[in-house]
Amino acid sequence: QQAVWLDCDPGHDDAMAILLAGYHPCVSLLGISTVHGNQSVAKTTVNALACLRAFGMDSDNLPVVRGQARPLVRPPTHCAEIHGETGLDNLEGEPLFPLPRDPDAMLVSGKCVNVMYEHISRAALSGQRVKLVATGALTNVALLLTLYPELVEEDALEVVFMGGAIGLGNTGPVAEFNMQIDPEAAKVVFESGAKVTMVPLEVTHTALATEAVISEIREDGSSEFRNALCDLLSFFKDTYKSYFGFDDPPLHDPCAVAYVIDPDLFETEDMRVDVETHSDLAAGQTVCDRHNLQKKPKNATVACEMDVEEFWDLIHNAIYAAEKK
Ligand code: BDR
Ligand code: CA
Repeated sequence: QQAVWLDCDPGHDDAMAILLAGYHPCVSLLGISTVHGNQSVAKTTVNALACLRAFGMDSDNLPVVRGQARPLVRPPTHCAEIHGETGLDNLEGEPLFPLPRDPDAMLVSGKCVNVMYEHISRAALSGQRVKLVATGALTNVALLLTLYPELVEEDALEVVFMGGAIGLGNTGPVAEFNMQIDPEAAKVVFESGAKVTMVPLEVTHTALATEAVISEIREDGSSEFRNALCDLLSFFKDTYKSYFGFDDPPLHDPCAVAYVIDPDLFETEDMRVDVETHSDLAAGQTVCDRHNLQKKPKNATVACEMDVEEFWDLIHNAIYAAEKK
């Protein structure tokens, strides 16, 4: 099993990342941290807890910790246009999953980065190299690597994140949302010396939740759980249609989890990636020097393609596993 820590901002696609990380037999999920992004960190945190309950993953052994409320330098930006006011809306604009009454009581107390450090270093002591999977802004990850560089020096972790783009962006002409909302954090992560794998829009835009995907989930037996997942995807489909004009929504975040489960599903290239932090026009752009024009040392593995059919198999299998539990 691969030890994984998941840092996320649920978020419809983050919810599916939680499900996949929770139910793939190769993943040993050490804990979950939340971050500002799709909505405020208060909302993404209750959403994470709500997902865990809805997915039958709310065990006492799975620590959940609330992370940073703001980017390192800039004011926070949220994405209600895509994820709704709650950050995880259903089609009626209500929370998709029932929210916990007393979320604070369900969280691990303490500073997020310290809790992450404690669990990741403990795993390292027992010989496990942790994959830190990030599906939101890289604020928590940047702080962790800044405060605890020994995690990198001792090769205790590697970072796999959903975000960035080789070419065009989504919420900016050349910037992807997770990078755009905290470019300075992304820069810290790329320059940290950690092994970093970026799963960019070029890959996640192939993970489209088509009508066929949605009806396969529904037709496999219409349980309340499956209907809720179909509502999740339908909400995402509607907002992607109205905001971006996409017919089918890309399920970005579980692609990073899929990379950890089976890197062989991906074509990758090692290259130099730098993050634009100065320009107003392009802040958060992941400048991918694919042809090594700058002759700078390579600092990232970039996923370029994914076996989409296998990806959906992973998702369908996670849904079965959650149902059987
Ligand atoms: C990313 O932005 C968020 O809205 C999604 O959850 C995903 O992590 C895609 O650009
Ligand atoms: Ca996300």
